[in-house]
Order: sequence, then structure tokens, then C-alpha cells
Amino acid sequence: MPVEELSLDQYGITAQELTALSEKCLEARERAYCPYSQFRVGAALLLRPRADSTSSALNIVIGANVENASYPVGTCAERVAVGTAVVQGYKHGDIRAVGVATDIEGYCSPCGMCRQFLREFLDLDTPIFMHNKDGNFQVKTMGELLPMSFGPDVLPPPEELLASRASKAPGSA
Ligand code: THU
Repeated sequence: MPVEELSLDQYGITAQELTALSEKCLEARERAYCPYSQFRVGAALLLRPRADSTSSALNIVIGANVENASYPVGTCAERVAVGTAVVQGYKHGDIRAVGVATDIEGYCSPCGMCRQFLREFLDLDTPIFMHNKDGNFQVKTMGELLPMSFGPDVLPPPEELLASRASKAPGSA
């Protein structure tokens, strides 16, 4: 979908921000290390400025897929991007939008493992813009891509679970 035809208000980002995000994820494909599949994937994250930031430049972190001779060890572009942002100090809620780009005609959506990985750091209404080889895209929210998801908010504090188990243990008062 061309940017002009999309109502971005619902996603809380501007056309300018989306254009930058699209450019970055398309560019990020160049960084892919994919000698085994030749399937290049680029990812980009539009981030809220960190509290310590003094720059007015857009905060965008990129990732690309990094494969391995031991095939299952390879990592997807989305997880490389999120891991990079996390070690730079970004936290849950800092990711405003995600862009993903491949070299195919269709709109490649994040794999199941990446959806779960993204879910840890994204709000359910965060948009994920999935680009094809020509830079056209489809957009879905995190919640649409991973309905009924399991996230950090579901986990009670471990002490609470331990205490509740201990109180139900045979022989407990
Ligand atoms: N890949 C990604 O980087 N992201 C996805 O969401 C789907 C798959 C990569 C993994 C592998 O390097 C290549 O694409 C082919 O599966």
C-alpha cells in the first residue's frame, strides 16, 4: 500500500516516520548474511527517544538475518533488531513501529518465533509494516499477528507462585 493512501493516525506515527522506517528496513536487507537460503530479510524499529537522548534525529535500529552453517542456529532479522535495541538501552514500550522487508513479491510476515520475541517488547497495538521487494507494504498490529498471546504481563511474580504451591503442598497447615 502506498503511504499516501494509509491513515497513519491509528498507528500514532507520521508519514515521514513511516517513510524513514521503510527506507531503513529495505536498506537493512543489504546487511543480511544468508549464504544458505539467499533469502535476505531486513528489519527496522522506530523507537521512542531514550530519556538520555539530546538528538532530534529519528531513533531507528536495524537488523538483518544472520544464518549459520548449522542451519537451525541462524537468527531472523527481527530478533537481531530487537536484541540490538535492547542492548542499546531501549525497553518494553519503546518500539513504536516495526518494518520488515524481503526480496519477494509477497508480504513476508515475521515467523512464529519472531512474533513471540517481538511480543515481549511491543504493545499489542504496535504496527508491523511488511514490505515486499518493491517497497510496497501491508500492515498488521502485533495483536493481529499473534492473537491470544503469552507475554510478560501474564506471568505472576515467581514468589507468588512458590507461596501458592507451598500452601497447597501435602502436610502444609
Ligand atoms: N527470516 C527472517 O529473518 N525473518 C522472518 O520472519 C522469516 C525468516 C530468515 C531466516 C532465514 O535466514 C531466512 O529468512 C529463510 O528462512
